[in-house]
Amino acid sequence: MLKRFSISLEESLLAEFDRYIQGHHYDNRSEAIRDLIRKTLVRREWEADKAVMGVITLVFDHHQPKLQERVTEVQHDFHHHIVSSTHVHMDHDNCMEVIIVRGKAGEIQELASRLIALRGIRDGNLAMSSTGQAIR
Ligand code: NI
Repeated sequence: MLKRFSISLEESLLAEFDRYIQGHHYDNRSEAIRDLIRKTLVRREWEADKAVMGVITLVFDHHQPKLQERVTEVQHDFHHHIVSSTHVHMDHDNCMEVIIVRGKAGEIQELASRLIALRGIRDGNLAMSSTGQAIR
């Protein structure tokens, strides 16, 4: 059920917010506000070390000696946290590995840090999501 409430904002801040909405292709202000609130609450859960789901993205050169092996080893160390992983051959040299994970935010962050810190990883990111409910 949707509830309405009104917000007071400085004109300049509202103008800036409207530009943000346009840039991010939201349908309207309500949609943008809802999304921002959710994101802030997810971040709070992350900080509170609650259960979350995440996507870890790694980009690396598969010619880097032993790197693919290490990427796999770290995932086996955290096998309870891994939902699935997909390997994409981006071009002649580069691979992308996309790993879907679930678990306590702190542990997911540790897993992501260990992967991203591996020598030869060219780019690495962790995105976190939450339903707002505890994951069992
Ligand atoms: Ni590859």
